[in-house]
Amino acid sequence: MYDFSLPWKIKVSSAINEILKDAGIDDIVNPDQVIAENPPNPEMGDIGFPMFSYAKLLRKGPPQIAQMAAEKLTKIIIDEKSGAKAQAQGPYLNVSLDRACEAKAVLAQAFGDEKASDNFNFGRPQTLAGKKIMVEFSSPNTNKPLHLGHLRNDVLGESVSRILAACGAEVRKVCIINDRGIHICKSMLAYSEQGQGKTPQSEGVKSDRFVGDWYVCFSKALKAEVDELVKSGVKNEDAEAQTPLMKKAQELLRKWEAGDSETIELWKKMNSWAIEGMKETYKRTGVSFDKYYFESETWMLGKDEVLKGLEKGIFFRQEDGAVAVDLSEEKLDKKILLRSDGTSIYITQDFGTAINRHKDWPFDKMIYVVGSEQQYHFKVLFILLDKLGFTWAKNLYHLSYGMVNLPEGKMKSREGTVVDADDLIDSLRDMALAEIREKEREGEVGDSAQVAEKIAIAALHYFLLQPSPAKDMLFDPKESLSFNGNTGPYLQYMGARISSMLRKAGEKTAGQADFSLLVSDPEWELIKILAEYPYAVNEAAANLDPSHLASYLYELSKSFSRFYHECPILNADDNALSDARLELSRAVMLVLKDAFHLVCIPFLEVM
Ligand code: ARG
Repeated sequence: MYDFSLPWKIKVSSAINEILKDAGIDDIVNPDQVIAENPPNPEMGDIGFPMFSYAKLLRKGPPQIAQMAAEKLTKIIIDEKSGAKAQAQGPYLNVSLDRACEAKAVLAQAFGDEKASDNFNFGRPQTLAGKKIMVEFSSPNTNKPLHLGHLRNDVLGESVSRILAACGAEVRKVCIINDRGIHICKSMLAYSEQGQGKTPQSEGVKSDRFVGDWYVCFSKALKAEVDELVKSGVKNEDAEAQTPLMKKAQELLRKWEAGDSETIELWKKMNSWAIEGMKETYKRTGVSFDKYYFESETWMLGKDEVLKGLEKGIFFRQEDGAVAVDLSEEKLDKKILLRSDGTSIYITQDFGTAINRHKDWPFDKMIYVVGSEQQYHFKVLFILLDKLGFTWAKNLYHLSYGMVNLPEGKMKSREGTVVDADDLIDSLRDMALAEIREKEREGEVGDSAQVAEKIAIAALHYFLLQPSPAKDMLFDPKESLSFNGNTGPYLQYMGARISSMLRKAGEKTAGQADFSLLVSDPEWELIKILAEYPYAVNEAAANLDPSHLASYLYELSKSFSRFYHECPILNADDNALSDARLELSRAVMLVLKDAFHLVCIPFLEVM
């Protein structure tokens, strides 16, 4: 990691210590106690050291201390024969660095390990080396295709996993497929009653959508029955449970739990359709898992755990036969863990799933990427696993993310509320393709459809990762695709531009130029941002928040753009300068490529 301020903290602490010694004060300031800041404008220098914290010690005002420290520091600088400058400005000691010297150091870092191995090690802070982190994300139900909310979940989970791995953690990506339960029985019921042997193949429909359509069919029929009952005087909240359809679905769930062979047969068929279709979507967005867990394989273990908890007196049986837990001590409500008819519910399987995962791969931490509407669920789950005696329960974490909505009227969905992931990506791809055609770039880009697809993924992923996970957001398809703005395609364009320039320049000796020539303002600004890359990766990992990297990418691209416009590269005054600028551009490209991978944006050589 390259940190401009680190060597300077040492020098500033020596300067302060000299002042202390001169004043006969028997105290010492360590380098790690020295605070370094970014001055608000570049004219003030590159690093600012506030002097407030030494006022008490020296019994002097911070501006006076800054003056004295500047003098001491200037002596140190002269002794070192460096070109840096120290200067007092109010209560601050500001340092202007020796650009040539720093440029060499930063670019040596950026290229350093590239030569040693095929891996780019610049953005690899190793702050999580030795840690085993499991990340659960996506985790769909098998009654519906993936929707826009999943797209946010998927890119968040995949990106966080890649970022944690970039910081040295051993990461295992997992997914729980909630493939059983009442919601699955609903689509099964509709299909068994009206499906007439139709299949995704016979209907020419993507297989997960085929299943989802039966769920929609059930929901519509259920609503009709509810309306009917309400008209006849049944209370709204009681109506659903009284519908013949709900009773049938529950009966189907009991049959499933009893292992009825016909029910299991139908369930297997519909689930394999659903899962097969989802995997196609994962492939499309570049999301993958090291292991899938299935609720149908963990719910029994969960049920056993609940019964064990009942025996131990942690849970209790209600009069109606349901098993519940009283969480009033934790300032939470009562929570049902098994229904009165003995069937298990959503949380039941989560006990079994977590236990199996820890058994399979004893993790130091497990992160659940799940929507904010399940905050209560995870709070309860973690408390109960702890109560059941699993010491690792304290290492579970819910990475909660907010809702994603579409601007009113921008896209129509089948149910009016959620938008299918596939439909959304298709429409982004079509918009990107139209733009390629409009600009008459088809001949240039090669396979336009493939390039359009990659632009669509970049637009989508970057837009979804920009806000912090906790925030609700509005996904604006048009805005996400804009080429001039803070978007994925803009970043891709920057990468493609550098690639094309490097192609034009031909083979050069990589990382071998004289970087001390890079001292103009735009060059210096770009080099400073380049040097921040490992910190941006680390920041994103520490906060489980890829938006840090998203903003970093935008800053880097903007800075490159300024450099590109103000500093001639291929036509620079002399060859040495041209080479150095080319290599600086190449370093930017390597960082872009690397960071794109971390935020799940495809890199394009041509655009
Ligand atoms: N399948 C669930 C849903 O769609 C999310 C599962 C979250 N993960 C978990 N371990 N409960 O709501």
